[in-house]
Amino acid sequence: MDPIVADWISLALRWAHVMVGIMWIGTSFHFIWLDASLRREQGMPEGLAGASWMVHGGGFYRASKFLVAPPEMPADLHWFKYEAYFTWITGFLLLAVIYYLGASDLLIDPRVMELTPWSAIGISVGGLAAGWVVYDLLCRSPIGDRTGILAFLVFVLACAAAYGFTQVFSGRAAFVHIGAFLGTIMAANVFFIIIPNQKKVVAALVAGQSPDPALGKRAKQRSLHNNYLTLPVVLMMISNHYPMMFEHEHNWLIVVGILLFSGLVRLYANLKNSGASGSPVTAILFYAAMVGMAAIGYASYRPGADLAAVGPVTIADVQAIMAHRCQACHSATPTDIAYRVPPKGIAFDTRDQIERMAPQIERVVVLTKAMPLGNKTGMLPEERLKIAKWLSDAETEVE
Ligand code: HEC
Repeated sequence: MDPIVADWISLALRWAHVMVGIMWIGTSFHFIWLDASLRREQGMPEGLAGASWMVHGGGFYRASKFLVAPPEMPADLHWFKYEAYFTWITGFLLLAVIYYLGASDLLIDPRVMELTPWSAIGISVGGLAAGWVVYDLLCRSPIGDRTGILAFLVFVLACAAAYGFTQVFSGRAAFVHIGAFLGTIMAANVFFIIIPNQKKVVAALVAGQSPDPALGKRAKQRSLHNNYLTLPVVLMMISNHYPMMFEHEHNWLIVVGILLFSGLVRLYANLKNSGASGSPVTAILFYAAMVGMAAIGYASYRPGADLAAVGPVTIADVQAIMAHRCQACHSATPTDIAYRVPPKGIAFDTRDQIERMAPQIERVVVLTKAMPLGNKTGMLPEERLKIAKWLSDAETEVE
């Protein structure tokens, strides 16, 4: 496909994906919050779990929850499902346009594993599908009734996905895949469990029978899992702008930290919303901060290279290396067929352009090895050292 056309399609899909994703997560957060804010009131009829008063946009709202269902089918019932479906569909198309069409650039990193584009795409699709199957089996097994053990096993499954994807794909693609893996579980929960169970409840109501409470309970369990998965999914989806997370020898461990951190933050928020307080609740925030700082520290630690042995490096040497390793893509007229314009508008055609980008070059060449993308142009370790030396000399000059 023409790279410019691919860019426009990717922009349209990304816009749509972010929009429907906001709607999905917005409703999901609202309903979890609503559930937690329900209070029993004096004289409230038996079938009601509670009610919540809200004020928004110049008016007061009162929502009450029926457990399991109202005695009769309401005339006008609103469903929330298309947000989830369209988030998954636009997300998968985006994954295909960016990572399947650009598999050799973005999905595959020969330093991680030498794959052909088709085998990489096969692993991607297979991995996402397998994630749902394993997760669903866990929930349906006898463990499904033990909330704590189930939560722990879902966490282990997410860690296994993090480990697995980082062993086969480029760091950037692996992180997006971990997000897609969890996002697929979330959307499939809505499609295969939550909505069908709600439909069964509605059908029972219409038939004048009393619905099975287990249906609502199971849907609620999946919905709570979705609530816990939201934070890590969103972080994984925006992670590709931050090589300091995905360009790390043990990048999957950083993902484990992210999962723990966001799980604790969600736990805290959910407890708070349901009215809990006191030092055990506040302590959760403290644990989250500890995990977060440990993950940041671990991700940031990069042993400095020994530059003493590297001889003097001139800007001409740097220009020669960049011409060789970067300009195929980063030039006003890229020669790499995947680009018609330099990625992110970054070109290294002149000395001035290189000098102005020095801090970014340090980030992607020295501190991480995010560039060249997938090391497509075969940059050598000694070339990275030379760039590091040039940057450190430039720094001493400024001081
Ligand atoms: C195969 C093509 C390709 C090669 C070769 C390549 N880059 Fe890139 N570069 C990209 C793409 C694509 C992006 C945009 C990535 C994104 O959107 O996050 C990028 C982004 C960047 C960025 C911006 C990163 C950010 O997070 O904003 C810098 C800086 C950069 N490249 C430097 C380099 C340097 C230095 C080299 C040579 C050592 C190099 N690139 C080689 C394709 C390439």
